[in-house]
Amino acid sequence: MIALGCDQGGFALKQEIMAHLKGRGLEFKDYGSYDEQSVDYPIYAKKVAEAILSGECDKGILICGTGIGISIAANKYEGIRAALCTDCFMAEATRLHNDANILAMGGRVVGAGLALKMVDTFLDTPFSNEERHIRRINMIEK
Ligand code: RB5
Repeated sequence: MIALGCDQGGFALKQEIMAHLKGRGLEFKDYGSYDEQSVDYPIYAKKVAEAILSGECDKGILICGTGIGISIAANKYEGIRAALCTDCFMAEATRLHNDANILAMGGRVVGAGLALKMVDTFLDTPFSNEERHIRRINMIEK
């Protein structure tokens, strides 16, 4: 199950992502926001982070205008590794190296075509499970 969250800056892109996930037959849960009204992105970062930490969802996608604020907020939660990505190389590397559990993007930064490719790359790339990467992730957690 994939958790989705956004603010007004990410609402339009989140709609595209939900249609894409549906097309792929992937299950997701939309934690809001649900329109383009101005809202506070830490609320949605919290909802998605908690959905992952509770085990309700395995991965998350967070989108605000830049992806910056919402990723900073999500990374305050212990066990969350939210990666702000702007290309597919980053989306792949953060799964392989960081075992990131949230993909963050900027709805005012990337176009839908690139964003959907990043979503697919992020969701389809497993963690490398290499000792050096496990060690570094454990160092972050400590
Ligand atoms: C909201 O206007 C904007 O600040 C937000 O979407 C995001 O870009 C913050 O980092």
